[in-house]
Amino acid sequence: MEEQRNIPRHVAVILDGNGRWAKAHHLPRKLGHKAGCENLEQIVEDAARLGIEYFTIYGFSTENWKRSAEEVGALMQLFRYYIGRLKEVAMANNVRVVSIGDRSRFDADLIDGLNMLEEVTGGNTGMTFVLALNYGSRDEITRGMRKMAKDAAAGILDPEQVSEDTISSYLDTAGMPDPDLMIRTSGEQRLSNYLLWQLAYAELYFTDVYWPDFHKEHLLEAIDAYNQRNRRFGGR
Ligand code: IPE
Ligand code: IPE
Ligand code: MG
Repeated sequence: MEEQRNIPRHVAVILDGNGRWAKAHHLPRKLGHKAGCENLEQIVEDAARLGIEYFTIYGFSTENWKRSAEEVGALMQLFRYYIGRLKEVAMANNVRVVSIGDRSRFDADLIDGLNMLEEVTGGNTGMTFVLALNYGSRDEITRGMRKMAKDAAAGILDPEQVSEDTISSYLDTAGMPDPDLMIRTSGEQRLSNYLLWQLAYAELYFTDVYWPDFHKEHLLEAIDAYNQRNRRFGGR
């Protein structure tokens, strides 16, 4: 029953399988990515309505630059277009959008678009939608630790006082709760450099469904599986 469902506070997703979805439909890969973006619009709205507080999506990894120039170019074009769509969805659903990852490698207009998206939605008080773009966990930790080392060298930070919370505060996800549930679509069972520090205690859920076919019912299945697990981490 819907009302008995315990909704995890933070759900993180690795959206995977756009390419395989396209192949299965005899379409070019870029149409798989387009279908994936369209699905994202809907699922953001679904997640917000379910009462998820933080919803983080892996949209483009630091490793994804190694794909063909054609595919990377098509993805950048899609991001440009979907920033506008996402703004509409976010405003209609009281969703605040923030991005994590190293934006500096993107073209200036894309960086401007992301800044605009964060600014325009910044006052929304519902779900926080976190877009991981040019994100890699090792890159995030490296950037964070470089900054931490600089602060220590500058005398702003006492090395003896460095705690787990200090480290968290130097990551792109500073201030956000750790994910409770991590979902990866499309059958692959690996983390692919996603939120390695933050997922320390998350429940991991894998489904064979390709991302463009992953709808609200599948999100609910994942949440139900999460609820059936025994969350007894640490002791006993
Ligand atoms: C996920 O779909 C989208 C991105 C990584 C940008 P893929 O493009 O990885 O799809 P598959 O794994 O080839 O099916
Ligand atoms: C992970 O998917 C990255 C994103 C979803 C953005 P990939 O499809 O790129 O991961 P690997 O290469 O199969 O590990
Ligand atoms: Mg993939």
